[in-house]
Amino acid sequence: MISPQTIEQITNRIDIIDVVSEFVKLKKRGANYLELCPFHNEKTPSFTVSPSKEIYKCFGCGKSGNTITFLMEHEKYSYAEALKWLAQRYNIEIQETEVSDETRIVQQAAESLHAVNNFAQKFFTEQLLHTEEGQSNALTYLEERGYNITTIEKFQLGYNPQIKNVFATAAIKQQFNHDILLKSGLVVNRNDELIDNYRGRIIFPIHNTTGKIIGFGARIIGSADKAPKYINTPENEIYIKSKILYGAYFARHAIDKSNECLLVEGYTDVISLHQAGIENVVASGGTSLTADQLRIIKKYTNNLTIIYDGDAAGIKAAMRGLDMALEEGLNVKLVLIPDKEDPDSYVKKVGTSSFKKFIDENKKDFILFQLEILLKEAGNDITKKSDAVNQIAESLSRINKAEDFTRRQAYTHECAAILKIDEDGLINLVNKYISERANKDDKQQHDKIETNNTETVKDNLFFHPDEAQEKNVLRVLLEYGVNKWNNKQTIAEHIFEELQQFRFDDTDMEKLFETYRKQYEEGLNPSAKTLLYHEDEKIRSLVVNVTLFPFELSQRWDEVLENIQVLNVDNSMRDVTMSLNYFKLRKIKKMFEQNQHDLQQSKNWNEMLQLMEIHKHLKGIEMEITQQLGTVIMK
Ligand code: UTP
Ligand code: MN
Repeated sequence: MISPQTIEQITNRIDIIDVVSEFVKLKKRGANYLELCPFHNEKTPSFTVSPSKEIYKCFGCGKSGNTITFLMEHEKYSYAEALKWLAQRYNIEIQETEVSDETRIVQQAAESLHAVNNFAQKFFTEQLLHTEEGQSNALTYLEERGYNITTIEKFQLGYNPQIKNVFATAAIKQQFNHDILLKSGLVVNRNDELIDNYRGRIIFPIHNTTGKIIGFGARIIGSADKAPKYINTPENEIYIKSKILYGAYFARHAIDKSNECLLVEGYTDVISLHQAGIENVVASGGTSLTADQLRIIKKYTNNLTIIYDGDAAGIKAAMRGLDMALEEGLNVKLVLIPDKEDPDSYVKKVGTSSFKKFIDENKKDFILFQLEILLKEAGNDITKKSDAVNQIAESLSRINKAEDFTRRQAYTHECAAILKIDEDGLINLVNKYISERANKDDKQQHDKIETNNTETVKDNLFFHPDEAQEKNVLRVLLEYGVNKWNNKQTIAEHIFEELQQFRFDDTDMEKLFETYRKQYEEGLNPSAKTLLYHEDEKIRSLVVNVTLFPFELSQRWDEVLENIQVLNVDNSMRDVTMSLNYFKLRKIKKMFEQNQHDLQQSKNWNEMLQLMEIHKHLKGIEMEITQQLGTVIMK
């Protein structure tokens, strides 16, 4: 964990314009900056950055947040990664809170491996571009295959010379530790001597989603008869095969914008498609997709299009792992490249626009595709056909998220038609698979689904009846809290006192309120700015939400405030008073309703008298507040 002191240092230095400008060209418009939104395609700019509030918002797609969430959204960083990026940018040394010995050892190994890989990439690129052997052996080969120098440089390709230890010698000279060198897979131990593992091979560096080199694929030059075509980095602290999608770093923005991820098999497929201007593409490395790889894709898009060459092995590999994709709610499409070509050779053969056209016209929905293959295999065989029905029903049953219900219905309808079977029968079969699996699921899984459901309901603030009033109180608290209310109290203290009897309905708002109170009582000076960088994601997004509130949600409130401004009264005091009054009025109205309800239900004379007392009391408070509000507005 990064220490709170470091986080504070970082957030003190943050300049949102400076950071966002790194990725988006910003133009100044009045107090704000405006540009085309990096998160969706648009023709007129609606992406706004406010330097004074330290937030951004797109009025087209609705994405909003602070500097850290911008890095998280745009670069797909985790919270910690975003902080590290900022620390590096502002030359702030990161202090970590205590970590276990085990974690520290892993972290140190990871750092050393990154360093070795970095060095190796530079070394190999140098060898490829600037040595006689590299140029004549490797560069000509790459050029013959049609890769231009821009592409070679972009993907940082390289070459490891044939002499047995050119790289090993250079690395040892740089004081890299032998164990780390062995772990990196760049060298191997032969009779107590370190020698290069990728001799005479072309080097493809593999980057993680943040652009760091985590390993290499090393391709033999020419055809591979005796030796394996590729040698890859062995599993180590940073090279974890199941989590790698080759090209994800270079594809991330294109995937975001096109809202589609193309998946191919090989390194060369990715590189050729990039060179052809098709950049939303990643490679799985020829194995079936893993849950971790799917998770990476899902960060960017729900639309996955798998492009495979027509050979059966490729298709089989692709099909495994796809049930998982269905469960994750991904829309999976498949395209087969014809005539023994692969995406690399095919795009070179037909060119960019024909390639794109071919993909668009030939992509088939995964389920229908699977059905087609199964039916072809079954032919007239009745048993095989009934197996096919079962298998399709099983696949359909995986589309089981609440929001995917309509999608499953549509599929079931279509599949029943293709199979020429009764739709109700297929529905029953699908349901059977669903309930079978549900029964198998343990209780833990069940609990997980339940909490997920309640969260989505809660997150949807519009369904929350007291939302506006609660938000408004938080807004004035964040905005004016540390200012003076009178000679004895600050505005924050006044608000705490006034709200002693009341509670927030929304648990997140309550949390923000309590967080503010706690920080305030600890003698800190909490504000929208400091809480904008709170470690809890819920708090951060709520702060953005609350700060933007008066401009977004409540036109009426704005008009009221405008009236006050015209009358030239102290804005903040009135704003606080009104916000508190509306909040209380709302709560009182609710109590009132509850009381009314109890009164109707009551059959006990004493209780009724008591309830009527409360009724009178509440009415009194209500009138008082209404009058106050009235005078504020009329004055
Ligand atoms: P391919 O054989 O299709 O290779 O394997 P390729 O990437 O298209 O290379 P070229 O075009 O022949 O030069 C697809 C992927 O499978 C993995 C690699 O990730 C490769 O990119 N693979 C293949 C290996 O890891 N080892 C191998 O020996 C072969
Ligand atoms: Mn190929």
